[in-house]
Amino acid sequence: MTTHSPCLKLSLHHHGLPRTANFVILHPMTEDVLNPKKYYGAQGNYLKEHKKYFSKERLQTEINFLIDVLNLNKKDKILDLACGHGRHTIELKKRGFDVDGLDFSDHLLVIAREHARRENLRISFYEQDIHRMNLKIKYNKIFLLFSEFGLFDAAVALKNMAKVLRTDGLFLLDCDNVFRLIQYLLKHPKSPYHFDFSKMELRGKGNNSQAVRYYIVPELEVLLQNAGLQVTSVYSSYQKEKLNINSKRIIIVAKNRS
Ligand SMILES: C[S@@+](CC[C@H](N)C(=O)[O-])C[C@H]1O[C@@H](n2cnc3c(N)ncnc32)[C@H](O)[C@@H]1O
Repeated sequence: MTTHSPCLKLSLHHHGLPRTANFVILHPMTEDVLNPKKYYGAQGNYLKEHKKYFSKERLQTEINFLIDVLNLNKKDKILDLACGHGRHTIELKKRGFDVDGLDFSDHLLVIAREHARRENLRISFYEQDIHRMNLKIKYNKIFLLFSEFGLFDAAVALKNMAKVLRTDGLFLLDCDNVFRLIQYLLKHPKSPYHFDFSKMELRGKGNNSQAVRYYIVPELEVLLQNAGLQVTSVYSSYQKEKLNINSKRIIIVAKNRS
């Protein structure tokens, strides 16, 4: 099974590039691409483009993976960070876990809340930007799946996340593997995107588009360390495969030491 969006307009779906890569590679340089608030809003294309990707089978695999690698148990207080329309939040709650969701898209949260209501599930969904996150609750486990990590101010986002993660609590970060992206760009020199190796940033060629930062594992380790966390495991897929340059994902689990 692949861990990618099938939404690709440029017939790249077999390359398995997930949302963050979609953001920069798979869409033409539209205003939407440069404006995540719009992309995830009522007029945005996010849900439409990812319709097929949200399969029940894929969701079960991801949930089983989360339960396994985060060692989720019914006593844990769990946060689905950037939860979108709540597919993981709702599935975990259905399985009896105590989980909240947070996202900055009011549109996606309306859908999440409506879905939870139909299922008779009481879930707290918070509408907040990760950069200005302000939650009163502390969590034992936090996960950030299919993240926009390359668009975040990483230090701020991780610091805010760490503030609400209990000591010894676990955090899971899931992002693109930059080496695969580079391989793709080398194979497609006519792509409208350019990777700046000196900054590890991807941009649209010939314009001032928003840059998307890509990270290698040692950098992520340092960023997490600076936020008080220590990496405990690294995976490349929801099947717990080991990381190599062809891996689709970088999935890191880290423990809060502060
Ligand atoms: C690709 S979606 C993934 C959603 C969900 N994790 C899933 O797998 O279905 C990325 C999500 O990040 C949210 N997001 C992007 N930037 C954010 C920010 N600065 N603060 C909070 N949420 C953000 C978007 O609204 C969107 O729901």
